[in-house]
Amino acid sequence: MRYATITGWGKAIPPAILSNADLETIMDTSDEWISTRTGIKERRIAEVETSDMAALAGRQAIAAAGKTPEDVDLIVLATCSPDTLLPSAAAWAQTKLGATNAAAFDINAACSGFLYSLIVATNMIKGGTSKCALVIGSEKLHKYVNFRDRTTAVLFGDGAGAVLLEAVEQDEPIGLISSEMGLEVGTEELLWAPQSGISGYTDEPVTSNRAIQMGGSEVFRRAVTMMADSSERVLAEAGWEAGDVDLMIPHQANVRIIDAATRRLGLDESKVFVNIASYGNTSGATIPIALTEALEEGRIQPGAKLVFAAFGAGLTWAAATFQWGDRITPIEDYQVEFPSSDLSGIDLIQANLEYFGRNDVPGDGAGNP
Ligand SMILES: CC(C)(COP(=O)(O)OP(=O)(O)OC[C@H]1O[C@@H](n2cnc3c(N)ncnc32)[C@H](O)[C@@H]1OP(=O)(O)O)[C@@H](O)C(=O)NCCC(=O)NCCS
Repeated sequence: MRYATITGWGKAIPPAILSNADLETIMDTSDEWISTRTGIKERRIAEVETSDMAALAGRQAIAAAGKTPEDVDLIVLATCSPDTLLPSAAAWAQTKLGATNAAAFDINAACSGFLYSLIVATNMIKGGTSKCALVIGSEKLHKYVNFRDRTTAVLFGDGAGAVLLEAVEQDEPIGLISSEMGLEVGTEELLWAPQSGISGYTDEPVTSNRAIQMGGSEVFRRAVTMMADSSERVLAEAGWEAGDVDLMIPHQANVRIIDAATRRLGLDESKVFVNIASYGNTSGATIPIALTEALEEGRIQPGAKLVFAAFGAGLTWAAATFQWGDRITPIEDYQVEFPSSDLSGIDLIQANLEYFGRNDVPGDGAGNP
């Protein structure tokens, strides 16, 4: 049988940090509130573009698999913050990588984007369209954030992660064992950036309507149900019990969402990977960054049984069970390096603060028209 297995992994974490203490200086919030309500201590702010981070994480994943960019025949880039809508961020990333033999496209399923992409690429490999696919999640979310709106600004951050998927022929199942993805109809406005696409190309001046708006508690409630229910279904389809799972790698949006969903699944917290404190919610990038760090920290052993689950704007959801292979160390180390810069996280959001602090910005100052 033909399967798709992960042979390489990588991440690109922008150097500039925006801590909870920094946020305390610009809005009515506290480290205590943010830490206890979300689990987040700091997040990263990128100076470079989404495709730059995608190429850096992708290059590390390709090296970890002992391959070259020319070996890649498909790039699937999960992002809801592409450098440009036309062409895709995947097009820019392909050039920056020098992946001259690859087809490339973006998938926008927001925070479920990486799992959507992993499922699509796996099935393209199984179907024979691809042999070697780079699946990336990369986001520059701070550009969507109104840093005068404390209900959203504390949650999001920037970064990228990637995996290389390769075709293998063997009898024993490997890679995705079971998976599902979905979208709850009629929930578009629970989490959205109203003028972020073509509808924002109006004759009117640009307004604060490009910022993320969110019904936080409603999203929270649905997120717990979506993550727990979809995980239960993929576990049942794989024929795995909760006790069989070696590690769950959930989307990192709020530690309380992760705790509630994994408690319902009956998973011990030692079996759940959480790194939200360092990066906040990086949307499509959370799972590949977490997977890479789980490998770096020795939390994944040969033959491990993994579960992934995510939810996001749409509202989308996705979940999968994943059988890991033998190798847990990179074949080649590629050191990710960002262009050197002296700018801090707070420096990089100054223009945003000035824009949303102006009296003539339409709306209520919280991103609402
Ligand atoms: C946003 C979220 C952290 C808010 O937590 P919550 O416990 O639901 O808090 P509430 O919205 O009920 O707000 C409680 C109070 O804290 C205040 N508050 C909100 N943000 C705050 C902040 N950053 N600092 C201090 N206080 C804040 C609210 O104004 C409210 O005050 P009030 O009671 O005087 O009106 C939580 O709803 C959440 O994580 N939702 C899911 C969001 C998400 O995951 N989005 C991405 C999906 S991929």
